[in-house]
Amino acid sequence: MHSGIRRRFYMGVCIGQMVIEKIIFKNIISVSIRQAVADDLNALQEVENLSYEHPWTRNMLRSSLDNPKSFNFVAVNQTDQRIAGFILNLLLMDELHILNIAVLPSYRRYGIGTRLLEASMETSIRKGAAKAYLEVRRSNIQALTLYIKHGFRVTGVRREYYSDNKEDALLMTRWLEPKKFI
Ligand SMILES: CC(C)(COP(=O)(O)OP(=O)(O)OC[C@H]1O[C@@H](n2cnc3c(N)ncnc32)[C@H](O)[C@@H]1OP(=O)(O)O)[C@@H](O)C(=O)NCCC(=O)NCCS
Repeated sequence: MHSGIRRRFYMGVCIGQMVIEKIIFKNIISVSIRQAVADDLNALQEVENLSYEHPWTRNMLRSSLDNPKSFNFVAVNQTDQRIAGFILNLLLMDELHILNIAVLPSYRRYGIGTRLLEASMETSIRKGAAKAYLEVRRSNIQALTLYIKHGFRVTGVRREYYSDNKEDALLMTRWLEPKKFI
Protein backbone atom coordinates (compact mmCIF):
# COMPACT_ATOMS: atom_id res chain seq x y z
CA MET A 1 0.00 0.00 0.00
CA HIS A 2 2.82 2.32 0.90
CA SER A 3 4.62 1.78 -2.41
CA GLY A 4 1.32 2.25 -4.23
CA ILE A 5 0.97 5.74 -2.84
CA ARG A 6 4.57 6.55 -3.71
CA ARG A 7 4.06 5.34 -7.28
CA ARG A 8 0.92 7.43 -7.72
CA PHE A 9 2.77 10.50 -6.43
CA TYR A 10 5.71 9.85 -8.78
CA MET A 11 3.40 9.47 -11.77
CA GLY A 12 1.63 12.67 -10.80
CA VAL A 13 4.89 14.59 -10.83
CA CYS A 14 5.84 13.16 -14.23
CA ILE A 15 2.52 14.02 -15.84
CA GLY A 16 2.67 17.49 -14.32
CA GLN A 17 6.12 18.12 -15.78
CA MET A 18 5.09 16.95 -19.25
CA VAL A 19 2.12 19.31 -19.31
CA ILE A 20 4.14 22.29 -18.08
CA GLU A 21 6.90 21.66 -20.63
CA LYS A 22 4.41 21.66 -23.46
CA ILE A 23 2.72 24.85 -22.27
CA ILE A 24 6.08 26.62 -21.84
CA PHE A 25 7.26 25.60 -25.32
CA LYS A 26 4.01 26.73 -26.93
CA ASN A 27 4.52 30.16 -25.33
CA ILE A 28 8.18 30.46 -26.30
CA ILE A 29 7.76 29.74 -30.00
CA SER A 30 6.18 32.79 -31.58
CA VAL A 31 5.48 32.16 -35.22
CA SER A 32 3.86 34.35 -37.82
CA ILE A 33 2.43 33.34 -41.17
CA ARG A 34 3.15 35.36 -44.31
CA GLN A 35 3.01 34.83 -48.07
CA ALA A 36 6.01 33.03 -49.52
CA VAL A 37 8.23 34.99 -51.93
CA ALA A 38 10.89 33.96 -54.47
CA ASP A 39 13.68 34.72 -51.98
CA ASP A 40 12.35 32.01 -49.66
CA LEU A 41 13.46 29.29 -52.07
CA ASN A 42 16.60 28.25 -50.13
CA ALA A 43 14.70 28.06 -46.85
CA LEU A 44 11.93 26.05 -48.48
CA GLN A 45 14.49 23.61 -49.85
CA GLU A 46 15.99 23.21 -46.37
CA VAL A 47 12.60 22.42 -44.82
CA GLU A 48 11.79 20.11 -47.74
CA ASN A 49 15.07 18.17 -47.47
CA LEU A 50 14.63 17.67 -43.74
CA SER A 51 11.02 16.57 -44.13
CA TYR A 52 10.97 13.97 -46.89
CA GLU A 53 12.87 10.90 -47.93
CA HIS A 54 12.23 11.92 -51.53
CA PRO A 55 12.18 15.73 -51.44
CA TRP A 56 10.96 18.00 -54.21
CA THR A 57 13.75 19.39 -56.36
CA ARG A 58 14.65 23.06 -56.41
CA ASN A 59 12.92 23.41 -59.80
CA MET A 60 9.69 21.92 -58.47
CA LEU A 61 9.70 24.32 -55.53
CA ARG A 62 10.58 27.28 -57.75
CA SER A 63 7.84 26.55 -60.27
CA SER A 64 5.33 26.38 -57.44
CA LEU A 65 6.50 29.77 -56.15
CA ASP A 66 6.33 31.22 -59.69
CA ASN A 67 2.96 29.79 -60.71
CA PRO A 68 0.37 32.58 -60.91
CA LYS A 69 -2.35 30.13 -59.88
CA SER A 70 -0.45 29.26 -56.70
CA PHE A 71 -0.58 30.93 -53.35
CA ASN A 72 1.90 29.89 -50.74
CA PHE A 73 2.65 30.64 -47.11
CA VAL A 74 5.63 30.33 -44.82
CA ALA A 75 5.72 30.16 -41.03
CA VAL A 76 8.45 32.41 -39.61
CA ASN A 77 9.93 32.13 -36.12
CA GLN A 78 9.71 35.69 -34.79
CA THR A 79 12.76 35.23 -32.57
CA ASP A 80 15.33 34.52 -35.29
CA GLN A 81 13.29 34.95 -38.52
CA ARG A 82 13.97 31.33 -39.46
CA ILE A 83 11.41 29.73 -41.75
CA ALA A 84 9.97 26.83 -39.78
CA GLY A 85 7.48 25.55 -42.31
CA PHE A 86 5.61 26.18 -45.53
CA ILE A 87 2.52 25.27 -47.49
CA LEU A 88 2.18 25.35 -51.28
CA ASN A 89 -1.28 25.59 -52.84
CA LEU A 90 -2.91 25.73 -56.22
CA LEU A 91 -6.32 27.28 -56.83
CA LEU A 92 -8.06 25.75 -59.85
CA MET A 93 -11.55 27.15 -60.44
CA ASP A 94 -13.29 26.69 -57.08
CA GLU A 95 -10.95 23.97 -55.85
CA LEU A 96 -8.03 24.38 -53.48
CA HIS A 97 -5.34 21.81 -54.18
CA ILE A 98 -2.86 21.54 -51.31
CA LEU A 99 0.36 20.48 -53.02
CA ASN A 100 2.87 20.37 -50.20
CA ILE A 101 3.07 21.17 -46.49
CA ALA A 102 6.12 20.67 -44.30
CA VAL A 103 7.41 21.84 -40.93
CA LEU A 104 11.02 21.53 -39.71
CA PRO A 105 11.28 18.47 -37.44
CA SER A 106 12.26 20.52 -34.36
CA TYR A 107 9.17 22.73 -34.77
CA ARG A 108 6.58 19.97 -35.10
CA ARG A 109 3.57 19.50 -32.82
CA TYR A 110 3.35 23.20 -31.91
CA GLY A 111 0.38 23.90 -34.18
CA ILE A 112 2.36 25.33 -37.11
CA GLY A 113 0.99 22.83 -39.64
CA THR A 114 -2.50 23.67 -38.42
CA ARG A 115 -1.96 27.40 -38.87
CA LEU A 116 -0.57 26.94 -42.37
CA LEU A 117 -3.53 24.76 -43.30
CA GLU A 118 -6.06 27.18 -41.84
CA ALA A 119 -4.44 30.19 -43.54
CA SER A 120 -4.67 28.37 -46.88
CA MET A 121 -8.30 27.35 -46.45
CA GLU A 122 -9.31 30.81 -45.25
CA THR A 123 -7.54 32.53 -48.18
CA SER A 124 -8.94 30.11 -50.72
CA ILE A 125 -12.48 30.75 -49.47
CA ARG A 126 -11.93 34.48 -49.97
CA LYS A 127 -10.80 33.67 -53.51
CA GLY A 128 -13.96 31.63 -54.14
CA ALA A 129 -12.97 28.05 -53.33
CA ALA A 130 -15.70 25.63 -52.26
CA LYS A 131 -13.70 22.47 -51.87
CA ALA A 132 -10.19 21.45 -50.81
CA TYR A 133 -8.31 18.33 -51.73
CA LEU A 134 -4.86 16.77 -51.44
CA GLU A 135 -2.97 13.54 -51.91
CA VAL A 136 -1.09 11.85 -49.10
CA ARG A 137 0.97 8.68 -48.86
CA ARG A 138 -0.98 5.86 -47.29
CA SER A 139 1.84 5.38 -44.73
CA ASN A 140 2.06 9.04 -43.66
CA ILE A 141 0.21 8.74 -40.36
CA GLN A 142 1.27 12.18 -39.03
CA ALA A 143 -0.12 13.98 -42.08
CA LEU A 144 -3.25 11.78 -42.24
CA THR A 145 -3.98 12.57 -38.59
CA LEU A 146 -3.51 16.29 -39.20
CA TYR A 147 -5.87 16.27 -42.20
CA ILE A 148 -8.56 14.18 -40.50
CA LYS A 149 -8.44 16.56 -37.53
CA HIS A 150 -9.14 19.38 -39.96
CA GLY A 151 -12.14 17.83 -41.61
CA PHE A 152 -10.59 16.01 -44.57
CA ARG A 153 -11.90 12.56 -45.43
CA VAL A 154 -10.54 9.86 -47.74
CA THR A 155 -12.52 10.02 -50.98
CA GLY A 156 -10.35 7.93 -53.28
CA VAL A 157 -7.16 6.01 -53.83
CA ARG A 158 -4.60 6.69 -56.56
CA ARG A 159 -2.82 3.38 -57.05
CA GLU A 160 1.00 3.49 -57.14
CA TYR A 161 0.86 7.28 -57.37
CA TYR A 162 4.38 7.84 -56.02
CA SER A 163 6.98 6.75 -58.56
CA ASP A 164 9.83 6.41 -56.00
CA ASN A 165 8.35 3.42 -54.16
CA LYS A 166 5.05 2.86 -55.99
CA GLU A 167 3.11 3.72 -52.85
CA ASP A 168 -0.61 4.48 -53.13
CA ALA A 169 -1.86 8.00 -52.53
CA LEU A 170 -5.02 8.58 -50.57
CA LEU A 171 -7.12 11.35 -52.05
CA MET A 172 -8.57 13.45 -49.23
CA THR A 173 -11.28 16.06 -49.61
CA ARG A 174 -13.27 18.50 -47.56
CA TRP A 175 -15.91 21.12 -48.24
CA LEU A 176 -14.97 24.63 -47.19
CA GLU A 177 -17.37 26.47 -44.94
CA PRO A 178 -17.03 30.26 -45.14
CA LYS A 179 -18.69 30.83 -41.76
CA LYS A 180 -15.95 28.93 -39.99
CA PHE A 181 -13.22 31.34 -41.13
CA ILE A 182 -14.77 34.73 -41.92
C1 LIG B 1 2.49 16.80 -41.26
C2 LIG B 1 3.20 18.01 -40.65
C3 LIG B 1 3.20 19.16 -41.66
C4 LIG B 1 2.42 18.45 -39.38
O1 LIG B 1 2.99 19.67 -38.91
P1 LIG B 1 2.87 20.08 -37.36
O2 LIG B 1 3.26 21.51 -37.26
O3 LIG B 1 3.61 19.13 -36.53
O4 LIG B 1 1.31 19.91 -37.12
P2 LIG B 1 0.46 20.43 -35.85
O5 LIG B 1 1.36 20.69 -34.70
O6 LIG B 1 -0.42 21.54 -36.30
O7 LIG B 1 -0.41 19.13 -35.53
C5 LIG B 1 -1.82 19.16 -35.55
C6 LIG B 1 -2.35 17.79 -35.28
O8 LIG B 1 -1.94 16.86 -36.29
C7 LIG B 1 -1.75 15.57 -35.69
N1 LIG B 1 -0.34 15.18 -35.77
C8 LIG B 1 0.71 15.93 -36.16
N2 LIG B 1 1.86 15.21 -36.10
C9 LIG B 1 1.52 13.99 -35.65
C10 LIG B 1 2.26 12.81 -35.36
N3 LIG B 1 3.59 12.73 -35.54
N4 LIG B 1 1.58 11.72 -34.91
C11 LIG B 1 0.24 11.76 -34.74
N5 LIG B 1 -0.52 12.87 -34.97
C12 LIG B 1 0.12 13.96 -35.43
C13 LIG B 1 -2.17 15.72 -34.23
O9 LIG B 1 -3.56 15.47 -34.15
C14 LIG B 1 -1.87 17.20 -33.98
O10 LIG B 1 -2.59 17.75 -32.92
P3 LIG B 1 -2.00 17.63 -31.40
O11 LIG B 1 -0.56 18.04 -31.45
O12 LIG B 1 -2.86 18.57 -30.62
O13 LIG B 1 -2.16 16.20 -31.01
C15 LIG B 1 4.65 17.66 -40.21
O14 LIG B 1 4.60 16.48 -39.42
C16 LIG B 1 5.61 17.43 -41.35
O15 LIG B 1 6.23 18.38 -41.85
N6 LIG B 1 5.78 16.17 -41.82
C17 LIG B 1 6.72 15.84 -42.90
C18 LIG B 1 6.21 16.34 -44.22
C19 LIG B 1 4.88 15.70 -44.57
O16 LIG B 1 4.69 14.52 -44.42
N7 LIG B 1 3.95 16.53 -45.12
C20 LIG B 1 2.64 16.07 -45.53
C21 LIG B 1 2.69 15.61 -46.93
S1 LIG B 1 1.09 15.05 -47.49
